[in-house]
Amino acid sequence: MARALILASVLLTLFAVAVADYNVGVGIADVTGPPTEITFMGYAQMRQRGRGLHLRQFSRAFIVDDGKARFVFVSVDCGMIGNGLRSEVVEALRARYGDLYTERNVMISGTHTHSGPGGFLQDILFDLSTLGFVKDTFEALVGGIALSIHRAHQSMQKGRVFVVSGELRDVSKNRSPTAYMNNPESERRKYKDNVDKTMVQMRFVTTDNNPLGAINWYAVHATSMNNTNTLVSSDNLGYAAIVMEKRMNGRAHPGKGAFVAAFASSNEGDVTPNTQTPRCQLSGRPCDVHTSACPTRRDQCVASGPGRDMFDSTRIIGMRLADKAWELWGSTSAVEMKGPVGFAHQFVDMPTQRATYYDEKTRSTKTVRGCLPAMGYSFAAGTTDGPGSFSFRQGTTSDNPLWNAIRDLLAEPTPDDIECHGAKPILLQTGSMTFPFEWQPRIVSTQLGQVGELVMACVPGEFTTMSGRRMRIAVRDALVALGAPESTQVVIAGLCNTYSDYITTPEEYEVQRYEGASTIFGPHTLTLYLAQYRRLAEYMARGEHNDPGPQPPELMNDVLSLQTPVVYDSPKWGHKFGDVLLQPPEVVRAGDLVTATFVAGNPRNDVRHGMTYLTVERLENNRWVIEATDAYWETKFKWERTSTILGTSEATVLWEVGPNTPPGTYRIRHFGNYKYIFGGVFEYIGVTQNFTVATASPSPYSYGSGRRVRALT
Ligand SMILES: *[C@@H]1O[C@H](CO)[C@@H](O)[C@H](O)[C@H]1NC(C)=O
Ligand SMILES: *[C@@H]1O[C@H](CO)[C@@H](O)[C@H](O)[C@H]1NC(C)=O
Repeated sequence: MARALILASVLLTLFAVAVADYNVGVGIADVTGPPTEITFMGYAQMRQRGRGLHLRQFSRAFIVDDGKARFVFVSVDCGMIGNGLRSEVVEALRARYGDLYTERNVMISGTHTHSGPGGFLQDILFDLSTLGFVKDTFEALVGGIALSIHRAHQSMQKGRVFVVSGELRDVSKNRSPTAYMNNPESERRKYKDNVDKTMVQMRFVTTDNNPLGAINWYAVHATSMNNTNTLVSSDNLGYAAIVMEKRMNGRAHPGKGAFVAAFASSNEGDVTPNTQTPRCQLSGRPCDVHTSACPTRRDQCVASGPGRDMFDSTRIIGMRLADKAWELWGSTSAVEMKGPVGFAHQFVDMPTQRATYYDEKTRSTKTVRGCLPAMGYSFAAGTTDGPGSFSFRQGTTSDNPLWNAIRDLLAEPTPDDIECHGAKPILLQTGSMTFPFEWQPRIVSTQLGQVGELVMACVPGEFTTMSGRRMRIAVRDALVALGAPESTQVVIAGLCNTYSDYITTPEEYEVQRYEGASTIFGPHTLTLYLAQYRRLAEYMARGEHNDPGPQPPELMNDVLSLQTPVVYDSPKWGHKFGDVLLQPPEVVRAGDLVTATFVAGNPRNDVRHGMTYLTVERLENNRWVIEATDAYWETKFKWERTSTILGTSEATVLWEVGPNTPPGTYRIRHFGNYKYIFGGVFEYIGVTQNFTVATASPSPYSYGSGRRVRALT
């Protein structure tokens, strides 16, 4: 009792301290991975290998310091974050800053784009489709994330932080509504929708109210680009960031402006951006709601929309997200953060966790436990955003002797594993698969960060809508009980620090949709997390160093890579690298798609961070000014090996002439690197002939209006 009183008074002082100003910093850096020949991370489709680039991937970092504590939030245009990736970033920071940035105060969240090159996680299951670990992807991410934090560090100045939120409809839908419906009715009645429609914006300004940056959290999958896309893209959230930054930064090219806007992931586990009704691709009929199956086995159930193709859908969703964030930026109802900066971090070994659970149905309390990681049958069915390759169905709760036999060759689940996973028929007992090393993580990072009354709950995977809601309530209630103000607000930072697949509620788990089948620590994964984050809330409120928990295994020395490197490049007979094989037309107009093709090397030879594979240039006072780089929506960069034996290849630059393009003399340049047959990588530059952009015909288009003259595919 006495301890509680002392604790309460300590907390009261802690929460009551009003901070006049924070020190804040924002930074952005390029993290684009090798854009060719590497399988994308997300849909697990071997054939979805990079053949160029549409939008560059960026890391966006935000630092807040109240004079006592410093906290870093980073949002990265990549599939997710893994233990190894984050620890390498922290190591890179340690080399430069000592103990200023550690695993305790650095929080890194992935946007979950499914169109970035893979191979950057270390656990085997996540690297199967990329033929193992891909060092180039990993290093591009580590270097870029660390650089974004470094830039944020260097830009630190006195500043103010505000939080505001608003509702955004028409960009998301629940892709497993039958699982959601299994949550208690009394709980569902508290919410209008079966997905969260609130955007939460944290904005950073100087003490004179000049804009510095914003983090916008919104729960939606970055899967507007589907599993047939082969151009690297940051998808809907990444495009929203580019649009908002462009509006604020004026002529600065993407990734180069001072204002940094992140669109970060949240509890998007069961949330799709593909807003049209899922349909069977061959027959065009709606699919079965519970299993997402089609009447014929070869047919696949896919959702798309709202645009006419995936690029159009990405643009529409991205633009709506950007427009909402823009509106929130202008809102006068934003609340200024005044409280302290705080954080708490702990690694936990999930299979050994225990918690008490109150079962609404039986009205009884029981002790529940974590299981060794395992994936269920419905995992192999995939989702309506990207169906799987075999004819598995979602909602599968019974098993099949043939698949079980194959499974047992890899690792046979024990009776205890089967009992532990409950409703989930086990397809892959990954927790027992140790050859040649770990298949899925069992030690995950858990973390809370706080800036004033806004608390970020960094979760090691994809929380479904209702899981996220329960987590927000649990953390907020725990903090308020410890003396935090009633105005305390919690956001879920998704795919954060560790990737351990999905987290559903125990009720959703029973239904075994894809998300439930991918909830790897068993039916009470969420129950265990709720208990864990309540403990974290206490650690954070006390502001003490807590037990760091068990370190995840170091896998860097074990990783395997079967990905062949670039062997060599050679130009086409009679040509040199950079030669133009197809010139743009002499005169083009707004709405035209300009194409130029060059003799090229493999873009994988150099990811050209902070630079570009192409420029569209306009002649101004006898000087060439860059109108667009490869990071613009209006440009696409495509690459093709024309002969593997000869090592020849071609790069094509596509540029859609926007209606606001100033008329004048233009040229396109391509920058590349080739690998010489006798060793070494060398740069080359190609340049087209000059061409004219003629005066635009009148058009309703503007960068922000979201209307487009012609499709670009
Ligand atoms: C992906 O989108 C394209 C349109 O951009 C469409 O033709 C294709 O059927 C879609 N594929 C899947 C698997 O969703
Ligand atoms: C393109 O225009 C520039 C500037 O006027 C000129 O220097 C250059 O020679 C032109 N290039 C070609 C191929 O005509």
